[in-house]
Amino acid sequence: MKRLVYSLMAGVLMSACAGSKMPEDKYDIRVDELLQRMTLEEKIGQMNQLSALESLDAMSEEIRQGRVGSIFNETDPHRINTLQRVAREETRLGIPLLMARDVIHGFRTIAPIPLGQAASFDLEAVEAAARVAAIEASSAGIRWTFSPMIDIARDARWGRIAEGYGEDTYLTSMMGAAVVRGYQTDNLADPTAIAACAKHFAGYGASEGGRDYNSANIPIRQLHDVYLPPFEAAAKAGAATFMTSFNDIDGIPSTANGYLMRSLLHEEWGSDAMVVTDWSSATEMLAHGNCRDTLDVALQTINAGVDMDMVSNAYIRYLPKLMKDGVIPEILINEAVRRILKLKFDLGLFDNPYVDESKLQAYTPEALSATLRIATESAVLLKNDNSLLPLGKEVKSVALIGPLADDTYEQFGTWAFDGEPEHTITPLKAMLSVDGVKVIHDKALTHCRDLKGDGIRQAVQRAKSADVIVCVVGEEAIMSGEAHCLADINLYGKQKELVAELSKTGKPLVTVIMAGRPLTIADEVEKSDALLYMFHPGTMGGQALVDLLFGKAVPSGKLPVTFPRMVGQIPIYYNHKNTGRPAEGNELLINQTPVRAAQTALGCHSYWLDAGYGPLFPFGYGLSYTTFAYSDLKLDKDRMKLENDSIEVSFTLTNTGNVEATEICQLYVRDLVGSVSRPVKELKGFRRVTLKAGESQRVSMKIFVENLQFCGLDYYTYQEPGEFRLWVGCNSDDNRNEATFYVD
Ligand code: BGC
Repeated sequence: MKRLVYSLMAGVLMSACAGSKMPEDKYDIRVDELLQRMTLEEKIGQMNQLSALESLDAMSEEIRQGRVGSIFNETDPHRINTLQRVAREETRLGIPLLMARDVIHGFRTIAPIPLGQAASFDLEAVEAAARVAAIEASSAGIRWTFSPMIDIARDARWGRIAEGYGEDTYLTSMMGAAVVRGYQTDNLADPTAIAACAKHFAGYGASEGGRDYNSANIPIRQLHDVYLPPFEAAAKAGAATFMTSFNDIDGIPSTANGYLMRSLLHEEWGSDAMVVTDWSSATEMLAHGNCRDTLDVALQTINAGVDMDMVSNAYIRYLPKLMKDGVIPEILINEAVRRILKLKFDLGLFDNPYVDESKLQAYTPEALSATLRIATESAVLLKNDNSLLPLGKEVKSVALIGPLADDTYEQFGTWAFDGEPEHTITPLKAMLSVDGVKVIHDKALTHCRDLKGDGIRQAVQRAKSADVIVCVVGEEAIMSGEAHCLADINLYGKQKELVAELSKTGKPLVTVIMAGRPLTIADEVEKSDALLYMFHPGTMGGQALVDLLFGKAVPSGKLPVTFPRMVGQIPIYYNHKNTGRPAEGNELLINQTPVRAAQTALGCHSYWLDAGYGPLFPFGYGLSYTTFAYSDLKLDKDRMKLENDSIEVSFTLTNTGNVEATEICQLYVRDLVGSVSRPVKELKGFRRVTLKAGESQRVSMKIFVENLQFCGLDYYTYQEPGEFRLWVGCNSDDNRNEATFYVD
């Protein structure tokens, strides 16, 4: 049972009086020795992070002066070594620099955006993609990345939904931990390991209205049940660093939130992860209005337990004064510097500070094959009428239409600073190498935001001569990611018109959408015979698509986020509360409602008159080229004790179609009655199972009683006894196989 007290003061007092409990470490003695030899200025210098400047001389001078502990955005190994040499050889104590970069979904070889990776539900493949990123980045001298982003996002308007793993707490927790393992391995000193950074701590995904940097108004129970568990999982997976988020929660910007860093991260979760601010999030507290001046910024930030200041200069400028005036005790500075130094020791930087400039790693066959695998597994088949896909041998010509059919850059998506478009395999490039198929390529629109649509007529004309049309539309990379929020999430520009016109040709139409978020695509689904959704799929995206189109690979991805029909339904997510008046499915929509109907004629249920109740596609949804049947659900027992207990759930999965394929089996639970109302369903397990055509297999998953905990009426987190419903199935809306169990 965990006590929950949401209080800024709790964190501050704890640290000032006692310091935080740090686990014993093999480097403790070396860190202490070094700390004792450091001047106050040298210590504060370690707590300062610079974004790279163009001038090596200017950066070198800062380093010589002992004013910098970490530099990010430097990617040239020679320059990195040059700077490191200054730190090692031209400063009094020779403390190496920590070189960082936003390596979010790949360094050179770009994997799908994290939201896409989540659709694979494949922890091994996601870990492998992170390993590729770490190998490539570390070969350039980068040893710290600002990833994974594990912000739960239930709002597709928010551009940064692209960077995380979707709306579900359990899936995001598993994904985040896998990424941490991929970056760090089990030995940070391995030269190919890079330190992970769990971000943004915390609640950033709840930015009000899906507008970036906005306040997050999260009830305390929801904060603990939904937004914080992925961070706890990352801490438990050993994430070496954490980053504070830009938003405030209930008036407290995270960078001043001692409860998060001190009470939770260090005390409760027992992690000694080093905490960095987000980009100038310290001085942004002036704009937030919770700090009077930059001195106050530095005070609130250090009190909250933030170890390193990213670019705002608040620490370097004002910590000396705060110390001199006796406002803060040196123990606060020491605990921060201790974490920074320890990380540098853990990464082996004192022993191996330099990178071998001749051994840059990129695009190795292993990297490309891991990236192709995750790109293939990330695609989600949303419609496939009359089994149009996979395209058969009878298809001799394909009209490949659309602004994203051959764009080497846009298919990377957001945060691909170091990706090189010349290495991208686009759909066109991949399709041109399919034997026996003539490709008619026409971009139709100059780019996704083309508002003129001058090329549509000709493209439609040309498409008419093909056996099948494949139309690739979506979002340019700039349309999602940080600060790239939208209030309208329909296909932009004339893309809707393009799909509509192509559908009128009568030719079989496959629509492929590459985007950074779920878009509202009800029209496109209706007008297309088949629809494949690829969250920006990265370097190998075109190859993955063509393998799927022609049946070399079979779609297995499932949506990591609910797709709304209309933007006005947002926030819409599967694990919502039931309300006192849940919809019953027979509600009248506005167009079915008689004129002058009496006020109460429609019943009084929780739904929208225009959009109805449900989403366009539920969380966990995704089709295959085969079908799967679930049967014979069994529990090894139907009662669990309140502590240290589990139930084994098993069922038979049968591939009832004609091709070998992978199903992502999902297990959901509902706590029927709690001291506070509980979600209608919560994902508690998943398995990827590959079966040959006609094959059956018994599949089992375990539910641990600890995974049923939640923040109760009294703000304690624990498991309450009671009756639970359980479902196994192919998505969050599949209610066909259910069972009941009890916790006593
Ligand atoms: C973003 C972070 C990123 C940082 C450094 C900020 O604007 O919010 O996610 O890691 O910049 O580039």
